[in-house]
Amino acid sequence: MNTAVLEVRDLNLSIDSSNGPHQLLDGVSFSINAGETTGLVGESGCGKSMTALAILGVLPATGMTIRSAGIMLNGEDLTALNHAQRRRVLGQDISMVFQQPATALDPVFTLGQQIAATVHRHGISGRKACRQTMLESLELVGFSQPEKIAAAYPHELSGGMRQLSMIAMATVCKPAVLIADEPTTALDVSTQLMILQQLKRLQTEYKTAILLISHDLNIIRQCCHTVLVMYCGRLLESTDPESLFSHPRHPYSAGLLGCIPKLSATRPPPINAIAGQVPALTDLPPGCHFAPRCDRAIAQCRHTAPEPESDNGRTVACFRPMP
Ligand SMILES: Nc1ncnc2c1ncn2[C@@H]1O[C@H](COP(=O)(O)OP(=O)(O)OP(=O)(O)O)[C@@H](O)[C@H]1O
Ligand code: SF4
Ligand SMILES: [Mg+2]
Repeated sequence: MNTAVLEVRDLNLSIDSSNGPHQLLDGVSFSINAGETTGLVGESGCGKSMTALAILGVLPATGMTIRSAGIMLNGEDLTALNHAQRRRVLGQDISMVFQQPATALDPVFTLGQQIAATVHRHGISGRKACRQTMLESLELVGFSQPEKIAAAYPHELSGGMRQLSMIAMATVCKPAVLIADEPTTALDVSTQLMILQQLKRLQTEYKTAILLISHDLNIIRQCCHTVLVMYCGRLLESTDPESLFSHPRHPYSAGLLGCIPKLSATRPPPINAIAGQVPALTDLPPGCHFAPRCDRAIAQCRHTAPEPESDNGRTVACFRPMP
């Protein structure tokens, strides 16, 4: 039987403003099994990175408050840990490849120094042992000359090499859960493929549970066991990729899939963009936040938020799901 390594229960995140708190995440719940990949998709600004950061308890701004019914990592509630306990767990049991490797890496230290510091912080002592583990982690993600990469500063590496180095740093302690936030964005297709292959290899070897955040729906389709569709901080649909791609039930999921460009031999095919825009955080519509953009909306949608309902392994939050 598959066991959930990470279980996120009713995660809420709000940020204070002069007009009162604004909700960034609203009742986000999901779990990931050992050795499986869960994809998180949605338009820009819908809360994907915030979900990742809130799970880790690392928030980018003051005035943000997390509430949840628990963020369980192998049965241990991360929200109940004190600062020292949390430092022990982050990087060792759960780690993250950040969306912007160029800014996530420290420009004044070599890659080797940065990875070795992570190794040292999580219990390996002695320069020689730390260096050996660090070099092995670089080799494991595919660098044939790890010493050369270890001696380089972040600015001396290409985007793809920086991203692979980030993956080496995030996986050096063989975490049970890896969160990869847009690990392939802005990279050429062959580098994308290499990064995805390395993530898959690490997963197979260590049974890592991966939360893969990506705008690339084709990558999500190929790599994931489960897909979560997010909009304005709420999860609207969750199911396996084949069910989602062949038969989306939530109108927003259908809209996202309609945006995928299709190749045509004869003329430029139309891209069916979703009408309207993601609303500002400060101006979220009441009820279903997608209602102003939804051509299936009914009066109820404009004042009441639909509760997620599960059936046959699929969860949908919508009053009028697609037939
Ligand atoms: N440092 C911050 N302070 C205040 N609000 C923030 C901050 N960072 C993000 N937000 C807000 O949180 C919301 C969710 O942002 P988030 O970065 O999670 O989006 P995302 O889905 O990851 O988008 P993208 O696909 O562009 O990376 C957005 O409305 C954004 O404006
Ligand atoms: S709840 Fe209503 S507005 Fe929201 S997606 Fe479903 S039909 Fe559209
Ligand atoms: Mg993001």
